[in-house]
Amino acid sequence: MKKISIIGAGMTGSTAAHWIAERELADIVLLDVVEGMPQGKSLDLTQAMPIIGKDAEVVGTNDYAATKGSDIIIITAGLARKPGMSRDDLLKTNAEIVGKAATETLKYSPDAIFIVLTNPLDTMAYLAMKKTGLPRERVIGQAGILDSARMRAFVAMETGVSVENINCYVLGGHGDEMVPLTRHSNVAGIPLRDYLPADKLEAIVNRTRKGGGEIVNLLKTGSAYYAPSMACVQMADAILKDKKLIVPCATYMNGEYGLNDMYFGVPVMLGAGGMERIIEYKFDAEEKAMFEKSAASVKETHEALKSLVTL
Ligand code: 2OP
Repeated sequence: MKKISIIGAGMTGSTAAHWIAERELADIVLLDVVEGMPQGKSLDLTQAMPIIGKDAEVVGTNDYAATKGSDIIIITAGLARKPGMSRDDLLKTNAEIVGKAATETLKYSPDAIFIVLTNPLDTMAYLAMKKTGLPRERVIGQAGILDSARMRAFVAMETGVSVENINCYVLGGHGDEMVPLTRHSNVAGIPLRDYLPADKLEAIVNRTRKGGGEIVNLLKTGSAYYAPSMACVQMADAILKDKKLIVPCATYMNGEYGLNDMYFGVPVMLGAGGMERIIEYKFDAEEKAMFEKSAASVKETHEALKSLVTL
């Protein structure tokens, strides 16, 4: 069996473990700094395995040595947003947590591929790549699948059509300036712009942009975890099965889309090598402007990070 270690056993980490175990995708190590919590959650999940008839092993730990030989490391550790906070407000604290998680796990799993979920997402993925010194193929940020899934869910709610028929593509940074591409999104091949009236589509775009905040405001004590964790499990699945799946993820930009030395959400191909290829869309003027605005905002957070920590 393959091995996935999840750093951070909070709601997102432990729900990712749940999805992975339920799919028998890999053996799992759930690590957290809180003593007893990852062990307790892992024991509970282990005891669900006989009921669902799956054999994934789930181990809870506070010790990085237990992550040895992982194929994939998922980093969810960090503070979550509270109402009124932006993802960027989490920068300093989460930079310390993610930096440590990335360097410690790399010692025990030098060949692993890293999936980063901690916010501010694009900047934490950048930090993980810089701290580990890994090539960009092996450090990927999760956000675009989640943001696109939110848009798909809202379109399904509006149209009453199966989610399976709905394809949406949300690119850019994982912030309120994200870029929902309505021209490329469709219902069973029919462009969204033809399927829905303009006002309904605009409402969906706005709700998607604020999708994470809507849940933070409802939960009051934490942020979303079902969809974020499922999104990163889809990435892990595509990598472990070498699926060549094209999905939007945060990746290191090296000239693509005219962007350099930053993480940003664009369509990528996921396979055994991790982020194997960046797919470049042709934008119209309006899309290009949205994309550039989002990039400027992410770049600002990257600069703020550089003033806080040595990379
Ligand atoms: C979200 O959008 C937590 O950033 C995550 O829900």
